[in-house]
Amino acid sequence: MKKITIAIDGFSSTGKSTLAKQLAKELGYIYVDTGAMYRAVTYYAMQNNYINHEEFNQQALINDLSKITLTFQFNPNLGFAEMYLNDVNVENEIRTIEVSRFVSKVAEVSQVRAKLVEQQQEMGKNKGIVMDGRDIGTVVFPEAELKIFMTASAQTRAQRRYDEMVEKGQPVSYETVLENVQQRDYIDTHREDSPLVMADDAIEIDNSHLSREEQFQVVLDLVNNI
Ligand code: C5P
Repeated sequence: MKKITIAIDGFSSTGKSTLAKQLAKELGYIYVDTGAMYRAVTYYAMQNNYINHEEFNQQALINDLSKITLTFQFNPNLGFAEMYLNDVNVENEIRTIEVSRFVSKVAEVSQVRAKLVEQQQEMGKNKGIVMDGRDIGTVVFPEAELKIFMTASAQTRAQRRYDEMVEKGQPVSYETVLENVQQRDYIDTHREDSPLVMADDAIEIDNSHLSREEQFQVVLDLVNNI
């Protein structure tokens, strides 16, 4: 079967990555979590004190962009690729609530977006890829054969993210997670460069009331009909 490009966009914690991973596994495609890339750049900025309390020194981060190398390395035990920042595995560090608090601010910076989009386009140039994010169907791969846009209520999404964090032993309250989800949605949809919008040719899936398996079947049917 001819390999295609699958773009999965949507609001935070809509289960994009779960669906994307499952699809990539089923189809033998590469899976790329672009949110992890923005998170890793945010973590770099935090480590270097370019983000301190509510202050964000954008220029310092922009000056350092050429020093930041992001790679994905497949972990056979987990069955998916983990994020490496300058050759260090940062998969756990980038999933904290602190990184979540600042990532949308970092993702507003055009120079950051330009660097990451270029790398994402390079990774997908041979197709056979499932990429999830906010601007995949609109900016990174506007020619993708299949575009999915995932939504769910903020409460459903916050509950999912909260359950995940509790499972990982991260101390956090549901209210903090809900506030973060709503704040990121706001910044992501209102930023000037590549705001989160549904591509005209995307198919919307509201998964508030769909199980993982049901979503997977819906999308797999779409892939098989291409
Ligand atoms: O997908 P995830 O929730 O991990 O993404 C973290 C943040 O990274 C998003 O809230 C958004 O600000 C940013 N992002 C983006 N463009 C992408 C992927 C993520 O702006 N393609």
